[in-house]
Amino acid sequence: MTISTHKHHRLPHTFLLALFSLYASLAIGADTMQQYQLVKKDSGYVLQLATVPVPAITAGQILVKVHAASLNRRDVFVLQGSYPGGDASGNVPLSDGAGEVIAVGKDVQAFKVGDRVAGTFFALWRDGKFSPAALASARGGSVSGMLAEMVVATEDSLVRIPDHLTYEEASTLPCAGVTAWNALFKAAHLQAGEYVLLEGTGGVSIFGLQFAAAAGAKPIITSSSDDKLAKTRELGAVGTINYKTKPDWEKEVMTLTNNAGVDHVLEVGGQDTIGKAAASIAFGGHIALIGGLSGFGGNLPALGLMGRGASASGIYVGSKADFEAMNVFIDKHKIKPVIDRVFPFAEAPAALKYMEESGFIGKIVIKVGS
Ligand SMILES: NC(=O)c1ccc[n+]([C@@H]2O[C@H](COP(=O)([O-])OP(=O)(O)OC[C@H]3O[C@@H](n4cnc5c(N)ncnc54)[C@H](OP(=O)(O)O)[C@@H]3O)[C@@H](O)[C@H]2O)c1
Repeated sequence: MTISTHKHHRLPHTFLLALFSLYASLAIGADTMQQYQLVKKDSGYVLQLATVPVPAITAGQILVKVHAASLNRRDVFVLQGSYPGGDASGNVPLSDGAGEVIAVGKDVQAFKVGDRVAGTFFALWRDGKFSPAALASARGGSVSGMLAEMVVATEDSLVRIPDHLTYEEASTLPCAGVTAWNALFKAAHLQAGEYVLLEGTGGVSIFGLQFAAAAGAKPIITSSSDDKLAKTRELGAVGTINYKTKPDWEKEVMTLTNNAGVDHVLEVGGQDTIGKAAASIAFGGHIALIGGLSGFGGNLPALGLMGRGASASGIYVGSKADFEAMNVFIDKHKIKPVIDRVFPFAEAPAALKYMEESGFIGKIVIKVGS
């Protein structure tokens, strides 16, 4: 269905608008919808459920009925008020979501009603280099996100999702999936047989593990929990280390790799892990600087990296083009994201609390709608 207005129409403009909104609400089935909003409290935000009008789309816009949204550690940081960026008051939380196109505006070429889609993390990064404009377009903070029954998007901010994935599975891809993909295949060139080190069993790390295993590489993963480590073996980890019982885990990494070190690290731990990541790196290896779970800080030893011809680079999720490249790989290997738990829409605050408690592995999802 394409909703468009025709310039040659002789009916009054207000009549046309009324007709348009009647047509849209009949097609969409409602005049109002529910969404969560970020509401300022102390130095952070709380989630508040609101009933709002179904958004009207204009030329170039696409209306998506969201079926699932997923959580990232960033969403906790946004609520705590510690995530950089502008004021998020009144905006819809969560960067990640997937759903179905239910209306398209004039001039939309790439999507049609019924398409299964996910939103990109950055609303304004189609391809090419990262830019200030892209940086300012991260959803779920100072730009509205996906925890709503319907969202308005543009062609540049949506991708088609692989057929073998449910909406819940696809909702986990935009941030954690694309970040892990770029760390392994764009910032570096992962080859079969190489060692990949993952820190902890959260979203980015579990995607990194699955991608590495699918590519024939050898994932080594750390966790604070032996039970979680047992699960990672089922996902393809060739080496597991409990970083609580083995605080000098970089030595274990060396033992597991016959003192060669790992070819890739997805560095999500931050100040507590960055030095250990550097101590674990192999000649010619690459450290993807991704996160600060223990706080940003710590130092990378220049001489240590130089002496091994190793490199490190910062990753910030990725573009729509990166998301599409990742989807080709996910489709080829029929990778299924690891979902720990799905919460109903009404229990979104409980889902965020569950993330804060860190008892999960992989991804946490919120089902939207019935
Ligand atoms: N730069 C980017 O583009 C980008 C994209 C996505 C995420 N990030 C950042 O990357 C980090 C991970 O994000 P996420 O969404 O994957 O997190 P997540 O799903 O919340 O992962 C949390 C898990 O990480 C592990 N963990 C916590 N503290 C740790 C530490 N000090 N050392 C090692 N592991 C630790 C724990 O696993 P166990 O229970 O197994 O110990 C915890 O359950 C965050 O800082 C996030 O902001 C950055």
